[in-house]
Amino acid sequence: MDKKQRILWGGATASSQYEGGFTDSKGLDTQDCRAYLPRTSNATEETRLLTKEKIEEAKRLDSGKYYPFRNGTKGFEHLEEDIEYLDELGLDLYRFSISWARLFPNGVEEVPSPEGVAYYDRVFNLLTEKKIKIFLTLNHYAMPIYLVEQYGGWKGRECIEHFMRFATFVFERWGNLVEYWLPFNEINAGYFSPFNGVGLLKGENGFDLSDVFQALHHQFVASAKTIKLAREMKLPGRFGSMIACFCYYPLTSRPEDNLKLVFEEQMNQWYCMDILSKGEYPYYAETFFENKNIVLNITDEDKKLLKENTCDFVSISFYTSSVITVEEADKTAGNLVVSTKNPYLKASEWGWQIDPVGLRTSLHKVYERYGKPVIVSENGLGARDVLTENGEVHDEYRIDYMKSYYEQAQLALEDGVPLEAYIAWGIIDIVSAGSCEMDKRYGVIYVDADNLGNGSYKRYKKDSFYWYKDFIQKYKEQNNG
Ligand code: BG6
Repeated sequence: MDKKQRILWGGATASSQYEGGFTDSKGLDTQDCRAYLPRTSNATEETRLLTKEKIEEAKRLDSGKYYPFRNGTKGFEHLEEDIEYLDELGLDLYRFSISWARLFPNGVEEVPSPEGVAYYDRVFNLLTEKKIKIFLTLNHYAMPIYLVEQYGGWKGRECIEHFMRFATFVFERWGNLVEYWLPFNEINAGYFSPFNGVGLLKGENGFDLSDVFQALHHQFVASAKTIKLAREMKLPGRFGSMIACFCYYPLTSRPEDNLKLVFEEQMNQWYCMDILSKGEYPYYAETFFENKNIVLNITDEDKKLLKENTCDFVSISFYTSSVITVEEADKTAGNLVVSTKNPYLKASEWGWQIDPVGLRTSLHKVYERYGKPVIVSENGLGARDVLTENGEVHDEYRIDYMKSYYEQAQLALEDGVPLEAYIAWGIIDIVSAGSCEMDKRYGVIYVDADNLGNGSYKRYKKDSFYWYKDFIQKYKEQNNG
């Protein structure tokens, strides 16, 4: 790669966390069924473990619960204004996702909802007018609840066919406008957060691992099929795979800590990307399946599809690193997982350990393993912000965070990692995917709303907005536009 290649700077949202627009024409999806639970020790976990009863409750208008993803941060109503902000920031690219249930309310319809199509027409037109490059995630967690009830989420092979109808429509209508594609957000989340990732409901005994890995397999096949179709249609964009990346450290130099790290890293982090990027199941999977009594249905045709349709680039979300030990040790929260505390790192209020150097390390590891262009498709600081009486937000903690991570990203590029783009997560405040709350904000644009949906939903530029704008401008000047 040409070392002078510059990083494209972006911002991202996800449909369920941002849009709202819970109209009659939009189907109920998995995220719409997650109620806000006041923060207690296990609220975050609870909101990710949905059962049949909770879904039934969510369908009743008198449940008395608040379902924050039905409001998001009202992007549906604020779209024009929000895209003006992205343009003012000088973003090179915007990552967003399409709500499957807004286009196909139950996921099984033959034709999409006209209202859904009209909304996304507006999104694509506005971004194209502003010349902001498009990075599109086809599926960011939310799936029509009908598919969960009918087929058990992604454990049902039928979901592949329904997903392909959705993907085909998106390709035909907007396919020429997209530069970067991701069939699935953080695909490894299906393993450690099966409701969010693959639409599995929690049974009496938790999750059956065969279901989890079968569901993931179906997502792999769907991913390969979308790539195949896009290539047949000669779409101009490139396709990626994405994992939540954790940069594992052993707590001590004890050999057993390090060995445990290898196993955890394989299954938690690399497994999905190994398959999507290399086109076959990795050597370690068979033993893992045997040890856990996991039985999968993988056809020869599936294997062929995976082999022939690998991704063009690899992307990671990177927020926090993880520590592994065979001993009992103090724990802290992380992105959808719990980690051992790292004595060398500070953590956010939510316990996510802040590790910019870990990002540089991870960029090397990802490139070394796959040898494909790399994108940081998500990164940011989830923090509590205060809106002052004059409509300002002084978030110097976020600026410090961004500076430190962006510096390490640029160093990785100088080291020789072909880092193509860096995308700031939740560029406009959105509902937290992990804990269903508004208190945990990532944006450089503040949205006036609270955990229960009270507020004007008016937008305000935070101090970090001005910092990011200035950073992008200077970066472009120094790196030939
Ligand atoms: C990633 C998801 O896991 O992390 C996003 O792709 C999510 O959807 C982000 O918002 C941050 O997590 P959280 O729980 O703070 O919203």
